[in-house]
Amino acid sequence: MGRIVYVNGEYLPEEEAKVSIFDRGFLMADAVYEVTSVLDGKLIDFPGHLKRLARSLGELEMARPLDDAAIEAMHRELVARNALVDGMVYMQVTRGAADRDFTYPEGATPTVVAFTQAKPMEDTVGARDGIKVITMPDIRWGRRDIKTVQLLAPSMCKMAAKKAGKDDAWLVEDGFVTEGTSNNAWIVTKDGRIVTRDLSTRILHGITRAAVIAYAEAAQMKVEERAFTVEEARDAAEAFMTAASAFVTPVVEIDGVALGDGRPGPVARRLRELYLSESRKRAI
Ligand code: PDD
Repeated sequence: MGRIVYVNGEYLPEEEAKVSIFDRGFLMADAVYEVTSVLDGKLIDFPGHLKRLARSLGELEMARPLDDAAIEAMHRELVARNALVDGMVYMQVTRGAADRDFTYPEGATPTVVAFTQAKPMEDTVGARDGIKVITMPDIRWGRRDIKTVQLLAPSMCKMAAKKAGKDDAWLVEDGFVTEGTSNNAWIVTKDGRIVTRDLSTRILHGITRAAVIAYAEAAQMKVEERAFTVEEARDAAEAFMTAASAFVTPVVEIDGVALGDGRPGPVARRLRELYLSESRKRAI
C-alpha cells in the first residue's frame, strides 16, 4: 500500500500527488526542506526544525506558507495517516510555479509537499558497527547554512564514497573538515576533547548538533566548537556524525585509517544514548 502524502493542503495517495513542471523547486532548486525524525510515532527536536525552516525561508526571501502550528499539525497528520512508528517526515517548500526566470517572481504561491519514510532508526548497522568515511574536497556553494534542495554535490560525494567501498564522505575546505555530505562531523581528541565545527555559512546548523552540544554540556562533557583538520581527524581517538536521520553515529575509519581499535568509541556511544533518552523526553 502506498503512502498518503501532503501537497498544498491536501492529503493524497502518493501516485496522485503532482506539482507543476514550472515549479522553481524543480527548475532551479529554489526550495528549502527539513527532515524530522520520528521515534515511537513522535516528532524529535521539532521546535528546532521549525526554527531552521523559518530561517532558511527568510534568507531566500521566500514567503512562509504555513505557520508553525499548521506545520506541526500537518506532520502529526502524516504520521497518523501512515501509521508511522519509526522513520522520518520530509517537508519541502518551494518558491512556487512561475515562467522560468532567474529573478524571483512576484506573488508566486509557495509549493509545500511532505511525506513520510518508514525505516529503523535505533538499531542500525551504522550505530552498531560505526561507519567508514573518506575525505573529499567540499565542492558545494557558499551558503550551506541554508537548507536548500541543491543536493547534487553531496550526492556525487556520497557516490564516490560508495564506489570506494565506504559509507560517506567528509568534506574538506582549506584543509579543514566542514561536515559530512548530510551530517555534521565530530571528533574526540586523544585527550578527550569533543570537537565540532563552529557555526558559519560554511556548514548547515544541525539541529541534532545543537541538541548534542546542550545534552553533553548538561552532563559536564565539554564541547569545543572549532574547525579541525583532516590530519587531526585521522589522529583522533574517536569520531562520529550527527543528523536527524542518524542521531549520533560513530565513525570508525577515515581515509582507510582506523580510529582507536576500529570499533565505535565510548564517547560516541554515550552521546548516542544521551541524545536518544533526552530527545525522547522532549518528543511531541
Ligand atoms: N541532512 N549537514 C548537512 C549538509 C545535512 O544535510 C544535514 C542533515 C546535517 C544535520 O542536520 P540535522 O541534525 O538538523 O539533521 C548537517 C538531512 C538529514 C538530509 O538531508 O536528509
